[in-house]
Amino acid sequence: MTQPGERAIIELEGVSKAFAKSGGVPSFVAVEDLKLNVPEGQMLALLGKTGCGKSTIFNMIAGLTAPTSGRVLVDGMDPFGQFDAFRGKMAIVFQGDRLLPWRTAVQNVELGLEMLDRSVAERRAIAMRWLETLGLAGHAHDFPHALSGGMRQRVSIARAFAVDAKILLCDEPFSALDEMTGRALRAEFARLVKSNNKTAVFITHSIDEALAIGDRIVVLKRPAKVEIDHTFEPVQTETDKENVRNMIRTALIA
Ligand SMILES: Nc1ncnc2c1ncn2[C@@H]1O[C@H](COP(=O)(O)OP(=O)(O)OP(=O)(O)O)[C@@H](O)[C@H]1O
Ligand SMILES: [Mg+2]
Repeated sequence: MTQPGERAIIELEGVSKAFAKSGGVPSFVAVEDLKLNVPEGQMLALLGKTGCGKSTIFNMIAGLTAPTSGRVLVDGMDPFGQFDAFRGKMAIVFQGDRLLPWRTAVQNVELGLEMLDRSVAERRAIAMRWLETLGLAGHAHDFPHALSGGMRQRVSIARAFAVDAKILLCDEPFSALDEMTGRALRAEFARLVKSNNKTAVFITHSIDEALAIGDRIVVLKRPAKVEIDHTFEPVQTETDKENVRNMIRTALIA
């Protein structure tokens, strides 16, 4: 929940999204009357079973699709209707790295900066700095095929941070990685979000991942309705976490 005085940077108010099905079948409701406010600086983990509407919500926040009814506001503006205004303000980390195979690591990181009117020298300096931060300075000029899956995912994280967007949207960015690499990158990601004062919405299937990085966990049930909305205290004990874990497990099984 948004605390009084905290500014919600992402606001969904009475949001529904229906998809028309072919063959005269009534339209399918993927999201129904959803209310969700994300205060500035929060790391929100969105959790829910497959098909519950997570990516649909994600796409509405990213301005890739409009709600059927209700209101989506990001930084006070409509991300779908005012898409151009969001250039450089929102960065997306997709599931899978989505790097361009014909560009080197550093050229991939430069991609978002090219849309932002930065000079060539500036773009290169920023991209190199982020590759260094993510431990890839020695691989800046390698092409994606020469990098491991974990390295490629780190390049895509560097690309998202390089544009210095206030808001990061992530759709299961670590789910294709092995457990150890996923855990290390997740910790690095959470640290970068906090130290750079970003707001992040993070979609995941994994209760452990949500508990590891979320300041707040929202569990959705089909059709995308909020089942649990839990904000953690700044300091949590293992018992607190275990209680939340059990509550989420019960909700997801039911
Ligand atoms: N463009 C579309 N046209 C018709 N139905 C759609 C469309 N996009 C999503 N849906 C339906 O809406 C529901 C929610 O889909 P969505 O992709 O948001 O789920 P999800 O929670 O992201 O699932 P997953 O965890 O598998 O990624 C699904 O039943 C899906 O079939
Ligand atoms: Mg999805």
